[in-house]
Amino acid sequence: MNILVTGAAGYIGSIVTEEIIREGNSVIALDNLKQGHREAVSPEATFIQADLADSEKLDELFRRYQIDVVIHLAAESITTHSMTDPRKFFLNNVIYGINLLDTMLKHNVFKFIFSSTAAVYGEPEKVPIEENNPKKPVNSYGESKLMFERILHWYGHAYGLQFISLRYFNAAGASERFGEDHNPETHLIPNVLKVALGQQKKVPLFGTDYPTKDKSCIRDYIHVRDIARAHVLPLKYPEKNRSNRAYNLGNSKGYSVLEVIETARRVTGTEIPVTIHPGRPGDPAVLVADSELARAELGWQPEFSDLESIIKSAWQWQRNHQYGYK
Ligand code: UFG
Repeated sequence: MNILVTGAAGYIGSIVTEEIIREGNSVIALDNLKQGHREAVSPEATFIQADLADSEKLDELFRRYQIDVVIHLAAESITTHSMTDPRKFFLNNVIYGINLLDTMLKHNVFKFIFSSTAAVYGEPEKVPIEENNPKKPVNSYGESKLMFERILHWYGHAYGLQFISLRYFNAAGASERFGEDHNPETHLIPNVLKVALGQQKKVPLFGTDYPTKDKSCIRDYIHVRDIARAHVLPLKYPEKNRSNRAYNLGNSKGYSVLEVIETARRVTGTEIPVTIHPGRPGDPAVLVADSELARAELGWQPEFSDLESIIKSAWQWQRNHQYGYK
């Protein structure tokens, strides 16, 4: 199959692309390289530098390649930035996403896998979170992704789009070749490992007054390769595929920020000092997935279920790529 992956030079997109190629598919890898890295795109993929705002270039791409499925990861995704610049999130994650959908439909491409997020739920009333829990995003990133999920629903209803939305919880870890390299880096695990590598003196601990066991935020960390596998399954077993659904992708285990730091101390054998800061605006206290639906319907089974092996994998990549892709 010919798969178009948008955001293919990003952290998760690079590893989704890698897994899909491993399964014998061809990938057209699209990225505008504003945040992604050209080096993060598998050499086996056909790389196209383009922005989803550019309808003409998209049209040309769909004319040139016979695309079977689109996997859409390109997005603005840093939750704290979404609190100060929501316009950027609605433009890139909603408006330009519609450009992509319209171009697909124009070229009779109907299969779509969407990179959604735990941020659609906001502050959950019930944990672990099931897919049908209330969705009340507390940052404009989650709001933009939820809006796009609703757009997919209506495009399915009216135009026959067949989609699944995959709601990632906290992606972490690396493959052998590709890993996490954001600029600026805002994510917990790479920041903790930068301190272990001596590149930063202390890791900021955002928030010590959340209603949790140790007062720091709780998240469900899921290995990026397990996330990537969830994109391959519906391609491999289309007969099982119940389309027009959303699936949570998490390990269903919550770890606090302090537990992550403690585990990283063990894995790296370093001290990792901490500085205390106020909580970040738009950060829910607890996000833990119920992923039973993905297991039952996609046949998805995460391989890296414990935090230590996820952090080990991130540590291995970060040690070998101390300055990221540079
Ligand atoms: N944190 C720190 N110090 C840091 C970085 C983060 O204390 O240096 C804290 C955050 O405040 C938060 C937790 O660690 O409580 C996790 O933060 P991340 O930035 O690693 O991840 P987020 O939970 O904010 O967001 C990530 C993705 C989103 C996605 C979300 C889903 O960036 O795209 O997970 O749970 F929507």
